[in-house]
Amino acid sequence: MTKIRKAVIPVAGLGTRFLPATKAIPKEMLTIVDRPTIQYIVEEAVASGIEEVILITSEGKAAIENHFDYDFQLDTVLKEKNKVQLREELKNISNLIDIVSVRQKEPLGLGHAIWMARHVVGDEPFIVLLGDDLVRSKVPCCKQMIDLFERVGESIVAVQRVPMDQTHQYGIVEGEETGIERTYKVTHMVEKPAPGSSPVRLSGISWIGRAFPSI
Ligand code: UTP
Repeated sequence: MTKIRKAVIPVAGLGTRFLPATKAIPKEMLTIVDRPTIQYIVEEAVASGIEEVILITSEGKAAIENHFDYDFQLDTVLKEKNKVQLREELKNISNLIDIVSVRQKEPLGLGHAIWMARHVVGDEPFIVLLGDDLVRSKVPCCKQMIDLFERVGESIVAVQRVPMDQTHQYGIVEGEETGIERTYKVTHMVEKPAPGSSPVRLSGISWIGRAFPSI
């Protein structure tokens, strides 16, 4: 089985639920404490052994690519001002990991955004992380998924429990126990079930795909 080396992070959505904050700023660049959300996600990927990030971007998302790029002009100014620690911090961000960008020309949905990565991913397994879904955990969620994939060799979806009265806003999965702790075999999947119609409340937050269908 091939090792998971690549993470696809779709960031091409319009972010309408966060308007007006996201009119000119990508949702993934909104900060939590001292850094943009997307940085936490990329750091999680790095901490989990991922070697390459494939960002699926769209018009107006250049701030995300710029955030992980080296800014020569800024670095020169910081050097003149002797801001050693700040320079080091920015250098670490731009050296975090290799990042490749692919454009999704129209916001045709999350599935389509992931499909845009097929030529860069090739025929190896890959993980999909959402640019705005943070998971707090001692062992990163991404690493837990990679470890599980190495055990079972199947596509995996990490799920979160959502409030019962909000299931109609999510894709919901149902499953049966596999014998591996906290792991279920998906038996049923419904996209945004009608309010009150779903007895379960598990919704996907990140995925491992065994491979893209033949390309
Ligand atoms: P969301 O469902 O959160 O959509 O997408 P959104 O457009 O970002 O936000 P709302 O619903 O308008 O408020 C989940 C992830 O999929 C990406 C988003 O950037 C987000 O990371 N996405 C969504 C794409 O890359 N392309 C799309 O066409 C849709």
